[in-house]
Amino acid sequence: MTLPEPVKIWSQFAHPILMWILLGLSIYALYSGIQLRRIRTVDQETRKNLIKGHFNTKHYQIGSLILALMVLGSLGGMAVTYINNGKLFFGPHLLVGLGMAGLIAFSASLSPFMQKGNDIARYTHITLNVTILSLFVWQAVSGIDIVQRILARLS
Ligand code: HEM
Ligand code: HEM
Repeated sequence: MTLPEPVKIWSQFAHPILMWILLGLSIYALYSGIQLRRIRTVDQETRKNLIKGHFNTKHYQIGSLILALMVLGSLGGMAVTYINNGKLFFGPHLLVGLGMAGLIAFSASLSPFMQKGNDIARYTHITLNVTILSLFVWQAVSGIDIVQRILARLS
C-alpha cells in the first residue's frame, strides 16, 4: 500500500506540533503538581484557596492526557519516520523518545500509591518527572534539528 505524496509530506509535521503542545501541558503539570505539594505545607487560609483550585483533579486529568499523548506521539513519530524513509534512525531522538515513554508510564503507575499518601511514591514520581522534563528540552532541540533536515530535503 502506498500513501499519497501530500499525506506523506504533511504527516511529518504532525508529531513536532503535537510534541510542542505536549511540552506546554507538561509545564502545566509541573505547576499543578507544585500546587498540590503546597497544599500540605501552607497556612489554613492559603490552603483553603488552593483546595478550591481542584489541582488534584486537574493534575490527574492532565497527567493522564500526557501519558496517552507521549506514548502515542512516540509511536506516531516512528510510524511517520518509517513511512517516509523505509527505516527508523537508530539515533538519540529515537532512544530518548522511547525512554521517555517508558518513564512516564512508570511515573503514572505510581498514582494509586501517591493517593494513599506514600512518600516514596511521591518522591519517585517527582524524580522521574524532573528527568522527563529535562529530556523533553533536549528532545525539543534534537527535534528542531530533524525538522530542519526535513525542510532542507523538501526545498
Ligand atoms: C511532567 C509530568 C508531571 C509532573 C511534573 C508531575 C509533578 C507532580 C508533583 C510535583 C506532585 C506532588 C507530589 C507531592 O504531593 O509531594 C504530583 C502528584 C501527583 N501526580 Fe504528577 N506529575 C506529572 C505527571 C503525572 C502523570 C502522568 C500522572 C498520572 C497519570 C500524575 C499523577 C499524579 C498523582 C495521582 C499525584 C498525587 C496527587 C495527590 O496527592 O492527590 N502525574 N505530580
Ligand atoms: C518537542 C519537540 C519535538 C520535535 C520538534 C520533534 C520532531 C521530530 C521529527 C521531525 C521526527 C521525524 C518524524 C516525523 O517526520 O514526524 C521525530 C521522530 C521521533 N520523535 Fe520527535 N520531536 C519532538 C519531541 C519528541 C518527544 C518528546 C518524543 C518522545 C517522548 C519524541 C519521540 C520521537 C520518536 C520515537 C521518533 C522516531 C525517530 C526515529 O525512528 O528515527 N519526539 N521527532
